[in-house]
Amino acid sequence: MCGIVGAVLSEGAVLEGLLDGLRALEYRGYDSAGVAVGIEGGVSIRRQAGRLESLEQALADGALDGARIGIGHTRWATHGPPTEINAHPHTDAGGRVALVHNGIIENYLELREELCEEGVEFVSDTDTEVLAQLVGRYLGRGGDLAAAVRATLARVRGYYAIAALAIDGDGDTLVCARQGPPLCLGIVAGGAHLASDPLALVRHTREVVFLEDGDVAVLRPGSCEVTDGSGGAVERPAVLLEIDAEQAGRGSYPHFMLKEIHEQPDVLARTAFDRIDEVGGEVRFVEEGWEVERLRAIERVQLLACGTARYACQVAAFQLEGLAGVPAEVDYASEFRYRSPCLSPDTLALAISQSGETADTLAALRLARELGARAGAICNVPESTLVREADCFLMTCAGPEIGVASTKAFVSQIVTSYLLAVAVGRARGTLDPERVRGLLADLRLLRPRLAQLLSRETQERIAAIAERHHDVKGFLFLGRGIHYPVALEGALKLKEISYMHAEGYPAGEMKHGPIALIEPGMTTVVIANKGPLAEKVRSNLEQVRARGGQVICVGSDPGSLALADETIEVPQATPWLAPVLSVAPLQLLAYEIALRRGCDIDKPRNLAKSVTVE
Ligand code: G6P
Repeated sequence: MCGIVGAVLSEGAVLEGLLDGLRALEYRGYDSAGVAVGIEGGVSIRRQAGRLESLEQALADGALDGARIGIGHTRWATHGPPTEINAHPHTDAGGRVALVHNGIIENYLELREELCEEGVEFVSDTDTEVLAQLVGRYLGRGGDLAAAVRATLARVRGYYAIAALAIDGDGDTLVCARQGPPLCLGIVAGGAHLASDPLALVRHTREVVFLEDGDVAVLRPGSCEVTDGSGGAVERPAVLLEIDAEQAGRGSYPHFMLKEIHEQPDVLARTAFDRIDEVGGEVRFVEEGWEVERLRAIERVQLLACGTARYACQVAAFQLEGLAGVPAEVDYASEFRYRSPCLSPDTLALAISQSGETADTLAALRLARELGARAGAICNVPESTLVREADCFLMTCAGPEIGVASTKAFVSQIVTSYLLAVAVGRARGTLDPERVRGLLADLRLLRPRLAQLLSRETQERIAAIAERHHDVKGFLFLGRGIHYPVALEGALKLKEISYMHAEGYPAGEMKHGPIALIEPGMTTVVIANKGPLAEKVRSNLEQVRARGGQVICVGSDPGSLALADETIEVPQATPWLAPVLSVAPLQLLAYEIALRRGCDIDKPRNLAKSVTVE
């Protein structure tokens, strides 16, 4: 949540670069935005409630155009509503310090009271303002900004990434610090840039330094000095990013979400094909910690995640139990962290996360490790906290996912958990090499089928269905077995981006409640594939039709397709991977409906891509 940028240049101007960086980070929060620059011996601030465009308009007068040092912020409100006053940057009472922040300051009320007793007047509702006021207090006249930031952070409890600039004292210095949320730096000749996500740096450089928890960095044009909390120098080597500016862009697609849906066949190939040896009947991970003895030692898997990634966990549990014969349990990370789970050293606690920064997921995995489990992760961001903290990890290769509603990450997670289930099954002897060869061949076949499914024809068909259903009373999504989590994901996609009420349910459970909702004007999406459960799903579908409900059938079962009002035929696939195919039409359906309802698809209201607070 919240995006931070900063830049200091020896010549030229920072403003356009700051705005570019904020555009790249808007997915992190977009309810208000602001910049602070050092100009003409003072700090100038512009902030606006609403989207970045409002800020851009407010800056159109050109008054801040000449600045060579500045910071910027795009906000997802935690303390106080998304107003101009609560937007970042915040300043100290003297107006010399400007500061932006991502995270939560847990003891901000105590600190605020202390400062109020000293006569400081606060103007915002935010926890961040406490930081700005404290830095101002410790800075004194002509003081050292880095020392003032360190003194401030020594008083603070919580999670933060911050960036600050000050006028008088070090006029051309930016100071930033990290404890929790990510922060990275890009140093170029004559300039230095900082951002919460390397996506905002790729336009300047692909060589990026990632700060670690407790680091405080001082940035000057062409240089950066990273220190610990007491000012001692620490080494943080630069990493060469694999992403480039093009990957971070939307290309010719109208929305990131649509681009990311269409990237899924390539994502599948990138995630899977280098890891499979069909001839030998083996899965090979380049990541450490998945050696055969390690895999054989796994007696139980505890899956942990939030949002879409949690539905991927549910699919993973089916794969692990069905293919590897290992008991697997799934919990919401936010629930798991507050219960008293029983884990043992032969349990693999496996967190699944696109960003690797979701606060609840991180906390749940830390707890699992404390309770004795081995901490594993499936994650899309190599530099993330989750990857750094896990005992072992597998990377998904989805590339940057920018649309707030997750799509390609989900597919890459399901493919990765499939590979893991096959590898565990092989190590435990549940699967013999012949069977593994077959399972890996199934995986190979999936890519052309997914590409075929994502054809223009399917999209037009789904667009026509969306045209007829975009203003119905509500949606029910039904699925059985491994498609139950897909039903949940279909409902989640729809509510996230179209704000329509949608519920996912196990099809067999419909008669215990949701059937009361069925009436004309209520649409039920049924996932119905060929297989042992096909007949049962068909009868659920008939129950909906008998009560006047409209049915959209998604799947490969001809009997069900013949009964439905609307159909989206999906190629058949091995059941363990079939969710990859059945979810794609649901993503497109949500997209097409949201489009017709005039919603902001890539930036749905109230949501954020990376939820770094509880
Ligand atoms: C937020 C996002 C979801 C995502 C969830 C978990 O709610 O909007 O799209 O599924 O967080 O995020 P993670 O990065 O841990 O997968």
